[in-house]
Amino acid sequence: MIRACSRDALKPGTSMTVDVGGNSVALFRTEAGEFFATQDSCTHEQWSLGSEGELEGDEVVCPLHMARFDLRTGKALCFPATVAMTTYPVHVNDNGDVFISPE
Ligand code: FES
Repeated sequence: MIRACSRDALKPGTSMTVDVGGNSVALFRTEAGEFFATQDSCTHEQWSLGSEGELEGDEVVCPLHMARFDLRTGKALCFPATVAMTTYPVHVNDNGDVFISPE
């Protein structure tokens, strides 16, 4: 598990890109307060979802061509993306530290 940030560093409904063991990972905090982590790059083309993605509930929309992904499973929900994103387990400890497991 690698510490990504503090819980308060990511407001509900926002996302960021973090380095996890040399890989770029998108970290999302939904409006409901849940954290999810996926590969940063959209599977359609190279586009940063942590920096540019638009959160809608438990889904993220890539603004480049409007592909949509399920943050829980990584599944591509609509064209033009057809390949699922890799997802990573996220843990928030009692001190409010957010950890991402690279596996
Ligand atoms: S790069 Fe994300 S939908 Fe095309």
